[in-house]
Parts: sequence; C-alpha cells; structure tokens
Amino acid sequence: MDVKREEVIANLGGDAAVKRMDHEARADALEDFMSARLDAQVAAQKKGKKYPTVAELESKIDTRGYRRGAGKLFIHERSNQNPSDDESGKKVDRLPPMPEKPTLIDFFKLRFPPAAHLLQSARLARKNGLSEEIILACLLHDAGQYLCRADHGYWGAQIVEPYVSERVAFAIKYHQALRFYPDPSVGYEYPEGYYMTFGEDYVPLPHVQAAYEYARNHKWYMDARMVTTNDLYSFDPNVQVEIEEFTDIIGRNFRQPKEGLGNDYTPVTHMWRTMALPDAPL
Ligand SMILES: [Fe+2]
Ligand SMILES: [Fe+2]
Repeated sequence: MDVKREEVIANLGGDAAVKRMDHEARADALEDFMSARLDAQVAAQKKGKKYPTVAELESKIDTRGYRRGAGKLFIHERSNQNPSDDESGKKVDRLPPMPEKPTLIDFFKLRFPPAAHLLQSARLARKNGLSEEIILACLLHDAGQYLCRADHGYWGAQIVEPYVSERVAFAIKYHQALRFYPDPSVGYEYPEGYYMTFGEDYVPLPHVQAAYEYARNHKWYMDARMVTTNDLYSFDPNVQVEIEEFTDIIGRNFRQPKEGLGNDYTPVTHMWRTMALPDAPL
C-alpha cells in the first residue's frame, strides 16, 4: 500500500499532535490508519471501484462549466459536463416563492429539498439518544453547502450563529475538519467516499489540519464528532424523513427571527436572502 508520510501525519492530527504521542500511541495510531485505509481499498476493489488521484481530479477542473465549490442552490451539477454524460444539459429547477417571513422550516421545504441527508442525519442522532443540540447540529450540519460547498462547515456555522447556541455552531463548524480524521474510540473511520471526492492520495489542507487539532482538544470535541458519526451512515435512499419531525427541536433550539430569515438585522441576514433568491442577477 502506497502511503505518504505527510498523509499519515495529517490523519493523526498534524505534526503537533504526533509529537505529543508516545512511541506506543504513535504505533497504534499508525496501525489504525493503515488498517482503515486498507479496509476501504479492499472494499472498493471488491466493488470494482477505482479511486481517482488528486492529479486526476484536478485535470477535470476545466472540463466543467462550474467550480466544485459552488453552492448547491446555484448550479445543476450535471449541466455543462462532458457531452458523453447522459445527464448533460440538465437545468436547474424554477424555485417556488418564499413566504413573506421565511422560517427555517420554509427553507427546508422550499430551498433545500430533498435535504434527505440532513433529515436522515438528524433522525439518526435522535435515534442514538443524542441531545437536542446535537440533533439540531446534525439537521443543519451541511446547510452551508446550499450557499457554498467549499469550506461548508464554516459557512454552515456562520449562517446559523445568530440563531443557535454556541455549542451547535461549534459542532457544525468543526464537523468539516473532523470528517477527515478517524476516531476509533467512537468507531469513526475515514469515509470511503472521500477517496472518490478528494482523490485517494489527498492530504487535508493546513487550515483543516489546524481546525482538527483545535477541535480535538476542545471541551465540545464530542459534539462535533457526533455530527460526523451520524453523518457517515446517513445516505439511505429508502428512508423518508419529513422536517416536521423536528418542529419541536427547532422551536426550542433555533431562535427564529420574527421578521423572517433574510428580513432581520444580523450579520448573516443577506446570506439567507441570497438562499431565498438565488436567481437574483446581482
Ligand atoms: Fe459536511
Ligand atoms: Fe454530511
């Protein structure tokens, strides 16, 4: 198995984290890393999958009419792809108007659909007996992707910051970095899908490594970690979850502004307005 030194260090939490480990802990961590990597590769080979490399993914950048970091609300990802793609030429949907005073639930119903991943993550968190704050964090953890996929944890935390507890915003922000780092204590492994999305030889960026180290040593680490453990297993096309299932949790933990999201006066009001009106040309 071809493994780069810097990749292993990154996966263990960066240089500083590795230096803090004693010899035995380092050996254990390396073994965990290697075995998770091997398992994922074996599983992929069984399914006949081949992962792209970082260089292969980079070579596709100028074959698309959009950038991969663009928010989900603004593109149809299969538009403008190479002409051999069956789905090329697909168009974005015409969006229904928003009510005068939009609530978070309105965004789930009118701008985020199907949002199955968010709804399923939240249901799983509830089933696992997690706190209302963590269930809400799971429900919102990837909401930033509607605005911007690149650094979605940061966008996601920022858009909800005025309306949720600091702890919920923390869990959303840091789940992005934590996704790259295994935590055997809670059975969290590097996601197989990331080999496909980022390339099999991908090394997390320095700001992600630093965010991981910061979060790892934070008193709320497990909150953000719980978002990743309920995130990983949440792609089941057969599970239907409606947003109403979380009306009570939203009511108790999300401070819905009376003017409506996008009409109130916070530093992120315009971000909600942009999500409400993604067709605005300027
Ligand atoms: Fe995420
Ligand atoms: Fe997610």
